Amino acid sequence: MKIKNHILIWILKSRRALFNRLKGISHLDIGTDNEFLDIHAEMLSEDRAIQTLRERYNIYHFMKVASGLEGAVAEVGVYRGGSAKLLCKLKGNSPIYLFDTFEGLPSFVTGAEGVLSSGNFNDTSMEDVSAYLSSFENVYIYKGYFPDSAIGTPAEHMRFRFVHLDVDIYESTLKALDFFYPRMVDSGIIISHDYRTFFAPGVRKAFDHFFAHKKETVIPLWDTQCVVIKNIVNQGAAAGS
Ligand SMILES: C[S@@+](CC[C@H](N)C(=O)[O-])C[C@H]1O[C@@H](n2cnc3c(N)ncnc32)[C@H](O)[C@@H]1O
Repeated sequence: MKIKNHILIWILKSRRALFNRLKGISHLDIGTDNEFLDIHAEMLSEDRAIQTLRERYNIYHFMKVASGLEGAVAEVGVYRGGSAKLLCKLKGNSPIYLFDTFEGLPSFVTGAEGVLSSGNFNDTSMEDVSAYLSSFENVYIYKGYFPDSAIGTPAEHMRFRFVHLDVDIYESTLKALDFFYPRMVDSGIIISHDYRTFFAPGVRKAFDHFFAHKKETVIPLWDTQCVVIKNIVNQGAAAGS
């Protein structure tokens, strides 16, 4: 881990007011949310997740919003388990279903997905992630190409209150939406990484395509994410605004 990160973690753990000033969040309620800031400190030290501070907060916040709903939690795009651990910390007793090839991004036509290449994010394994999340109950991890890897598992028959997508490419995003959308409970939340980044243009393309003729609106979030809430119609929020 870089020396800069060590210093930031030290500031976050022992000089929280300074951290808040450095991050420009002193005037925001997030600056006094010690539960979140402790989780963020742990995520920074473990260095497994790729989300920014704001993106982690979005996941944290929407997990809390969904906590009153029935249904399971899922993530497609686990990589080294960083964002999955954030979900595990907030899921309570409910089951969480985690899907990844654990061999990196599946194959696609080179050049069609921004800067990405097939096989990116292959420096992980299901065994490592399983050990990393072993202190949490009801964690079910499936290795293989999603959604094929979900067929014949209990996830196929589940209803979901919260789904985190982080699969980077068009086909995986579209297939994940096809799988989860009909399985979401009312007001269930689908949040995805990379909707707004030029580095992974397939994610936005898949969301915009999938929701073009659905009643829900795709709502963009800082930094790169978007969120959709099942059966909530938000005519006012234009995608891309
Ligand atoms: C950016 S990484 C996920 C990062 C992780 N969410 C985190 O924050 O640490 C993207 C992952 O998506 C996985 N992936 C993409 N398409 C997939 C598919 N169709 N089935 C299974 N895994 C897929 C890749 O294997 C890769 O590990």
